[in-house]
Amino acid sequence: MTGSESAVAPGSVHIHHGDNLDVIRSLADASFTLIYLDPPFNTGRPQERAVETARSTASVPPAARGQLADEGAAGSRPLGEQMTPRGLDTGGVVRRGFHGREYERIRGDLRAYDDTFDDYWGFLEPRLLEAWRLLADDGTLYLHLDYREAHYAKVLMDALVGRDRFLNELIWAYDYGAKTRKRWPTKHDTILVYVKDPKAYWFDSDAVDREPYMAPGLVTPEKAERGKLPTDVWWHTIVPTTGREKTGYPTQKPEGILRRIVQASSRPGDRVLDFFAGSGTTGAVASTLGRDAVLVDHNPAAIAVMRERMPHARVFGMEHEQTLP
Ligand SMILES: C[S@@+](CC[C@H](N)C(=O)[O-])C[C@H]1O[C@@H](n2cnc3c(N)ncnc32)[C@H](O)[C@@H]1O
Repeated sequence: MTGSESAVAPGSVHIHHGDNLDVIRSLADASFTLIYLDPPFNTGRPQERAVETARSTASVPPAARGQLADEGAAGSRPLGEQMTPRGLDTGGVVRRGFHGREYERIRGDLRAYDDTFDDYWGFLEPRLLEAWRLLADDGTLYLHLDYREAHYAKVLMDALVGRDRFLNELIWAYDYGAKTRKRWPTKHDTILVYVKDPKAYWFDSDAVDREPYMAPGLVTPEKAERGKLPTDVWWHTIVPTTGREKTGYPTQKPEGILRRIVQASSRPGDRVLDFFAGSGTTGAVASTLGRDAVLVDHNPAAIAVMRERMPHARVFGMEHEQTLP
């Protein structure tokens, strides 16, 4: 246990069992400082499509298009207002993308390349728009992806929320498991980091656990003792196959990765959301560090693992407590 963990009382944990889109639509605007999302990777199978198709903005007057683009991320206004240039008749269709036509064009181009990705993004997009609505003005969104999605997702996220909201691309590198001899073995994940307001986001590098220098002999003993601040490339083992941390949930992420994220981008008492919660790593780490966590998953196995991992959590939905807190 680190000093920062022992100093604070554990935060509350609320677990929701259900489809995340249904649950997050009921949560209040701008109510989370940190949102971490680790969606299932694109499996190549078509996914559920819960998206209305946006109308072309070709008929939008140029002045209104400019207004839409200039507005950038629309803070905590209701979703319909965020997407729709004021004074335009949209025929009741929610226009998606904070950047209107540019977003639709990029999305259309990517669809032409890869319709499997389009299915994936069709699933993710409405959830990302909700995440953006839920993010506080000083909040940060971490989107954890693998190499198959990361580059498409970066381009789409830039168009969706604004390139100026992009903060970092984190590379989590690990070295475990079989290695192909036919290409460079892929042993990393990508985490895209976006902030709601580039001028007002919370980031505390002093709160982050430091790591050993690769060449400690090149720095003073004091520096070597203190360790160095992690960069945007994180070497970290996967969850050990034996040991305290392992829950048995197949896609469980290491606590060390989440701890850095929670330490840097939230304060004790802040609210943290993970609506692809799985084994609940985000909630377990956030609570230990004194943050209040809201977790969502639709898989009963995930709910069972989270219950055991966080006995102090309250569970809502399905056969659990029925009311939303
Ligand atoms: C990659 S796993 C997350 C693993 C997690 N980060 C951890 O450390 O254990 C993705 C999770 O999203 C959940 N999920 C996928 N689609 C969902 C949906 N529409 N609503 C709620 N949960 C969903 C899956 O059940 C799965 O547990």
